[in-house]
Amino acid sequence: MSKIEKTYTTKANFMLHGGDYNPDQWLDRPDILEDDVRLMKLSHTNTFSVGIFAWSALEPEEGVYQFEWLDQIFENIHSIEGKVILATPSGARPAWMSQKYPEVLRVNGSRVKQLHGGRHNHCFTSKVYREKTQKINRLLAERYGKHPALLMWHISNEYGGECHCDLCQEAFRDWLKVKYDHNLKLLNNAWWAPFWNHTYNDWSQVESPSPIGESAVHGLNLDWRRFVTDQTVDFFENEIVPIKELTPNIPITTNFMADTFDLIPFQALDYSKFAKHLDVISWDAYPAWHNDWESTADLALKVGFINDLYRSLKQQPFLLMESTPSGVNWHEVNKVKRPGMHLLSSMQMVSHGSDSVMYFQWRKSRGSSEKFHGAVVDHDNSSENRVFKEVAKVGETLEKLNAIVGTNRPADVAILYDWESNWAINDAQGFGMKTKRYPQTLQEHYRTFWEQDIPVDVITKEQDFSAYKLLIVPMLYLMSEETISRLKQYVANGGRLVMTYISGIVNEYDLTYTGGWHKDLQEIFGMNPIETDTLYPKDRNYVIFRNESYALKDYATVIEVSNAVVEGQYKEDFYAETPAITSHKFGDGKSYYIGARLADQFHRDFYQEIIDELHLKPVRKVAHGRGVSVQVRQAPDRDYLFVMNFTEEKQEISFDFVAEDMLNSEMITGNVTLEKYEVRILEAAR
Ligand code: GLA
Ligand code: ZN
Repeated sequence: MSKIEKTYTTKANFMLHGGDYNPDQWLDRPDILEDDVRLMKLSHTNTFSVGIFAWSALEPEEGVYQFEWLDQIFENIHSIEGKVILATPSGARPAWMSQKYPEVLRVNGSRVKQLHGGRHNHCFTSKVYREKTQKINRLLAERYGKHPALLMWHISNEYGGECHCDLCQEAFRDWLKVKYDHNLKLLNNAWWAPFWNHTYNDWSQVESPSPIGESAVHGLNLDWRRFVTDQTVDFFENEIVPIKELTPNIPITTNFMADTFDLIPFQALDYSKFAKHLDVISWDAYPAWHNDWESTADLALKVGFINDLYRSLKQQPFLLMESTPSGVNWHEVNKVKRPGMHLLSSMQMVSHGSDSVMYFQWRKSRGSSEKFHGAVVDHDNSSENRVFKEVAKVGETLEKLNAIVGTNRPADVAILYDWESNWAINDAQGFGMKTKRYPQTLQEHYRTFWEQDIPVDVITKEQDFSAYKLLIVPMLYLMSEETISRLKQYVANGGRLVMTYISGIVNEYDLTYTGGWHKDLQEIFGMNPIETDTLYPKDRNYVIFRNESYALKDYATVIEVSNAVVEGQYKEDFYAETPAITSHKFGDGKSYYIGARLADQFHRDFYQEIIDELHLKPVRKVAHGRGVSVQVRQAPDRDYLFVMNFTEEKQEISFDFVAEDMLNSEMITGNVTLEKYEVRILEAAR
């Protein structure tokens, strides 16, 4: 569990405010670069991520370097006491490199070699590319490693994607040889190879999954995704060799992402593995505020969930590395943030543990694909427009919040998220093809706690369970024996465990357990889920729980009880009146199994009993209606409350402790009205 002591992850004791600064787009406009300095001050920004796509500006020809412009940028930023987050430029290569060394080009799953262009388009195995990145990174570290403005390293940019070239195939085979002990029989067994005649008798026959080849061997798919994460991390490790050597005290991050349209955690890389290699987690958040398919509060909840996951990866404050001060340009509809939303959405990030508010990008590009993406400085170059003023307001606000830097958010409740299980369940042919929605299901379980301001950590399977009073494990399809035994230990030692339908189905090789549900799971839960029914959208069934009827959808698991207590039953179909919800005392703890997919009201009512029994509480009780969220960061002697109105109406809140409004130093207590999108930031001594 996160500790209450402060952790200065960036080593700065102030909130970072700024963003991606790309002066390399403006090198022939010294007037613009000069004006940037003036505007930086006016916007109350203090930190700039520089050099992200600047390789061609740094090394215009192979071995020919020009750093003078970057020297000047360091000086400019330093002159206003600003800080630089220096990026390594590997996110996109110079054209000369692709031309001279075609092996750096990525090959896609259909084995088509990609042309030069785009971003994230490199082969992560290529020796040439690895040498070239190390070289440029070494030069950057040598030149700027001791510069007083250097705050952090930003390694590459949004690592993602995969390469299927011959070099990567060889690397994959080597990875598999290590994993399967150089024994092809073990691999064939793990991948259930005899099915559809997939047996290999030589390692060289193994190929990565492909739309023109094999894509349905689940064990292969799962191992490939693991390899892609490992190889990406390996590439990253290669990048930071000179950086660690030359600047051992400068923290390192790389910017993580989310899958934006549904706002769920990024799926393609296992960030729980990546996190171990970083000093600081940072991520790029682009929620579609004001969209027409969900309420502002529903979207805020999803942002909260991802924040709680990314913070929990290292159990320490993280950074918002990119966001937009207005709209993006790559959503289906690119709505600008309504007045007030920029401050509110920025403070939400801080409330969950971010020690920064950063943007893509500082100055709007004149040309190319992102020329209409929101930026601090618009094409009008003005400090008077609405967006600029809202940015400056965020800056002024952050300047009053420096005491919050480094503070944490301890939690008694954890929800378990697993990247590998997500891959495996999405790969599974079966259940509902479109209704698995594993990350979204976790967000639904998160809701009750979010609505009641009860802090939650979203943890991964390697993390310590024992720190939590309640552990919620929805839809953990893939569960190794090790995870099962850790869960057993957790409950035996007094933990409360909630699990749902479609859990514990396959092991870490994506092979199903045989002979019924794993015997340890049967012991923990006192029951055995024997069949999972999948429903059509128009099918209707209900669970009766505490005499109330709750509509279920998508999934209903038929349960055979051995010694569990039946807490709820199905209403219809051939399993009418059979158990749908069970509980069981095991060791010093208690477990619950939810057999069906149920909606918000069920979760509220179900979790309320557990909340009451375990005395789970918000850090500070603030009475409010739905759509208001109170998130708290805690220092050893005081609490910092962010009271946020994620609705379009005024909201009345009330509380009985006395707190100081950190923005205007007013002491307040009792009843307070929040305007639409208003956020109040309160400090209360303990
Ligand atoms: C990503 C990238 C940025 C920029 C933004 C635009 O997060 O890292 O370079 O393209 O998207 O939203
Ligand atoms: Zn490759």
